[in-house]
Amino acid sequence: MSAHRSGPPRTPGAGTLGGLAAHQLLRLCEVAGLDDADAEVYARTLTGMLGTVAERPLDLPPATPTFLSDDHTPVEFSLAFVPGAEPSLRVLLEPGGGAGGPARSGRAGLRIVREAARRWGFTTDRLDELEDLFFPPAPEGPLALWCALELRPGGVPKVKVYVNPAASGQERAAATVREALRRLGHHQAFDALPPGDRLLFFALDLGDWEDPRVKVYLAHHDLPATRAAALTRMRGGPSPAETEAFFRIATGDDAAPAAPGDRDGPRPARRPVQSCHAFTETATGLPSGFTLYVPVRDHAPHDGEALARATALLTHHGLDPAPLARALAAVTSRRLEDGVGLIAYLALTHQQGRPPRVTTYISSEAYAVRPPVGLLPAGAAGVR
Ligand code: TRP
Repeated sequence: MSAHRSGPPRTPGAGTLGGLAAHQLLRLCEVAGLDDADAEVYARTLTGMLGTVAERPLDLPPATPTFLSDDHTPVEFSLAFVPGAEPSLRVLLEPGGGAGGPARSGRAGLRIVREAARRWGFTTDRLDELEDLFFPPAPEGPLALWCALELRPGGVPKVKVYVNPAASGQERAAATVREALRRLGHHQAFDALPPGDRLLFFALDLGDWEDPRVKVYLAHHDLPATRAAALTRMRGGPSPAETEAFFRIATGDDAAPAAPGDRDGPRPARRPVQSCHAFTETATGLPSGFTLYVPVRDHAPHDGEALARATALLTHHGLDPAPLARALAAVTSRRLEDGVGLIAYLALTHQQGRPPRVTTYISSEAYAVRPPVGLLPAGAAGVR
């Protein structure tokens, strides 16, 4: 451990989780137009924050069954597209690889985020104020702390932290989120949220943000397009037609609920659609941002189709889809038709004062590729 303090951290070798993730990140940085020096810094940052699981050989199973990705890789990439600029690259990770169960993983996560804050010169005050809520002595799953880095030019990322509303129990999730919002000055925010089936994440922007957000994520099961359109609570948010268009493109217009095994052979039940409500000021009590996430991997037979949906969506918004295909080729050499889940989610974000943004979530697939739907032998299960 202390060896990591003196001198630059070692780069994990090929055949390790960190080696693969770093390689994927370096290639994605190229797609996002980051220079080699920034890419190197960010690859080292990623493996450093993963900690010892970075050195874990890939032929061993994942260290923990993390819910961060379907195959339990503790890393997921995303590309956010805005008009007139190169897409921005982000990486979501479980600090310390999540090893050791939620209590230890949460403490490791906090330590790693605080270390990063010292290194990059920002404060974790807002997170520290919530420590008792989200890091109780015996926290419940399915996550303790995740961290996302927005990899902008210059080698110092913007940081986002995600914690678990159900850490102190699923039955306490609403009270936990209400109290967290209140402590941050957002007294009316909880009551501004739309109905949802479950509180999934609570997130904070930390560090160098123009308008740092506090975000609440909700799950919505079996949501029809028309109801998705009614979920925004921000002023000047998307019109119903805009949300419905997004929803229909991302789902392939097949938004009817599917039970496990009811159509193309066995597949797990669909993951819920998620909505995110972002608060940046306390005066109005209303969110200033709204995002809808569609788990496109549960609505497409294979990633060729998922890419077609993403391409249609980006084109619909006047965005150049070319970087996405390059990004997929940067993380895997498999054919897109040979699996489903490389594109995990498609998202549409509205934030006051900014143009709408389309985000594509890209899996590392370090441990497994989910087979395409329709080619499964009867009775076979997907990757679990
Ligand atoms: N893997 C989890 C899920 O599918 C969490 C997650 C990872 C997620 N990346 C995401 C959720 C992007 C929404 C959007 O739910």
